[in-house]
Amino acid sequence: MKIAITKERRAHERRVAATPDTVKKLIALGFSVAIEQGAGEASRIPDSDYQAAGASIESDTANLLRDADIVLKVQRPLLAGEGDINELALIKRGALLIAMLSPYADPAAIIQYAQAGVTAMTLEFVPRITRAQSMDVLSSQSNLAGYRAVLEAINVYDRAMPMMMTAAGTIAPARVMILGAGVAGLQAIATARRLGAIVSATDVRAASKEQVESLGGKFVMVDSEEVKNAETAGGYAKEMSDDYKRRQAELVAETLKKQDIAICTALIPGRKAPTLINDEMVHSMRPGSVIVDLAAEQGGNCTLTKPGEIVEVNGVSIIGLLNIPSRLSADASALYAKNCLNFITPMVNADKQLAVNWHDEIIAATVLTRDGDIVHPNFKPATAA
Ligand code: NAI
Repeated sequence: MKIAITKERRAHERRVAATPDTVKKLIALGFSVAIEQGAGEASRIPDSDYQAAGASIESDTANLLRDADIVLKVQRPLLAGEGDINELALIKRGALLIAMLSPYADPAAIIQYAQAGVTAMTLEFVPRITRAQSMDVLSSQSNLAGYRAVLEAINVYDRAMPMMMTAAGTIAPARVMILGAGVAGLQAIATARRLGAIVSATDVRAASKEQVESLGGKFVMVDSEEVKNAETAGGYAKEMSDDYKRRQAELVAETLKKQDIAICTALIPGRKAPTLINDEMVHSMRPGSVIVDLAAEQGGNCTLTKPGEIVEVNGVSIIGLLNIPSRLSADASALYAKNCLNFITPMVNADKQLAVNWHDEIIAATVLTRDGDIVHPNFKPATAA
């Protein structure tokens, strides 16, 4: 059984899908592990560390992938025309491709995985059940993103965060509002609180109130019957009614104009991110304020966000940086690699053979394509009646 780990070639990607620690554990499971030369460089892992852990280093991508039974990546492979190589074309038919494949962002690629005969498994779809907690890439990466978002804000904020009483005068603490109190939002609250800010937060899921308050944040929420129904069985938010959106906009507008920093993290799986901060609300913030939009990749929570850029509008900085976890590549890779190891471990039987249980709830939720077909219910082509 061979596992291949490629260098990540997509823009803004500094992470890698294995560390020397996970390489050792994969070898103990019975795999041989091959790493593409330089794959760990941007996460501060030299090839020599992988070699010391027992991996082989391969400089030729075609050789790396040709006989691999599992290809482990962070982002989806490059397809024809997307870069100097077509990574997907180098993966053998029948191999498992395990990565964060962003199926909603690139549904066309799923057809190509099927045509290439690879079994594509997307880690974002690992269900949020207790048994899968250690495989949960959304949590491991969002947690880091929430932390880093606060630091990105501070980087352009030209005031101090904590209250400081000095002989030369008193500095008021920063007021920080977190929009969306899921994994990233809760870590942003904790980070901003540690730095001495006064923090408030909002969400559509009533369950988040207690979590926000336990971290010392003030919970601000629309008082509506609708919130009882705002959460899916999987724990995610639903899209709210137009009436709710209008009332939420009024509440956010009222709160936001008193804030110095806003961190946006609100997402709805499979849809464009909800708009929570409109142009008018940005204009109501005082010059020097900062908005960090972690939802930039999914269309943004703020109407003035420019994905991949930091823009200034009337003195308000709007940070739309992409792939924030990658900016903490060493830690993000370590956690992601561990998630991958925990996902793969149950696929190996006592005889050290690959024996995937396709009926397992976690596997079934993640498989997009198999044996040349699209098998995931969310992407299966409609069959003619
Ligand atoms: P997410 O990344 O999909 O969304 C971020 C946050 O934005 C969520 O809290 C969501 O409710 C909120 N949001 C969506 N639309 C909004 C709107 N219009 N206004 C304000 N807020 C809005 O969510 P994430 O962070 O992945 O968490 C989703 C759920 O999964 C949560 O219930 C979390 O507690 C749960 N979870 C469970 C785990 C487990 O049991 N293993 C592990 C991690 C998370």
